[in-house]
Amino acid sequence: MDEMEGLAVTDCERCPALCESRNRIVNGVGPADADVQFIGEAPGANEDERGEPFVGRSGDVLDDALLAAGLEREAIRISNCVRCRPPDNRDPTTEELANCRGYLESEIAAVDAEVIVTLGKVPSEHLLERDVAVTNEAGSLVDVRIGGEPRRVLICVHPAATLYDRSQEETFEETLATAADLAGVETGSGGQSRLGEF
Ligand code: URA
Repeated sequence: MDEMEGLAVTDCERCPALCESRNRIVNGVGPADADVQFIGEAPGANEDERGEPFVGRSGDVLDDALLAAGLEREAIRISNCVRCRPPDNRDPTTEELANCRGYLESEIAAVDAEVIVTLGKVPSEHLLERDVAVTNEAGSLVDVRIGGEPRRVLICVHPAATLYDRSQEETFEETLATAADLAGVETGSGGQSRLGEF
């Protein structure tokens, strides 16, 4: 039975393969009214174990870059396109992405962030509904409609890409700095101010 409590999916059996491979459903974390929403692909082994997105090696890279950009992890929303770990860490299938789309759209609508940052190819293509060459387009801000509402999507490389290709590190950090800028974060002081407070 499919069930959602607030922004959390508490039960879902739409994807037979993912029901087999998951230990748990990994919901988004962070404030329900965050100014910035990061969206990854799907939970990996660490996320499946701990029930939180981006807590493995990619999460460490993300945390370091967030810090450098003056964004606090506790102040942003972090979600995935698909909430259950695919077997052998394969990419989610088109059908699995479609099965989870409604949950993601509900979450995006509720959070209503100033900017959505897509981490890597899968979330970028899923939300922009076109092919995306992430390495070329990283840092681009794109206006799209998601669930019928206008949204701003900032294309970003996946944090793991910086581990395999050091040249992507700078692009990653610059994109996060842009996200902080769009959310009105004061970088120099290291503190984060939320849009609309002043
Ligand atoms: N990669 C993702 O895309 N999502 C996670 O939660 C972790 C790693």
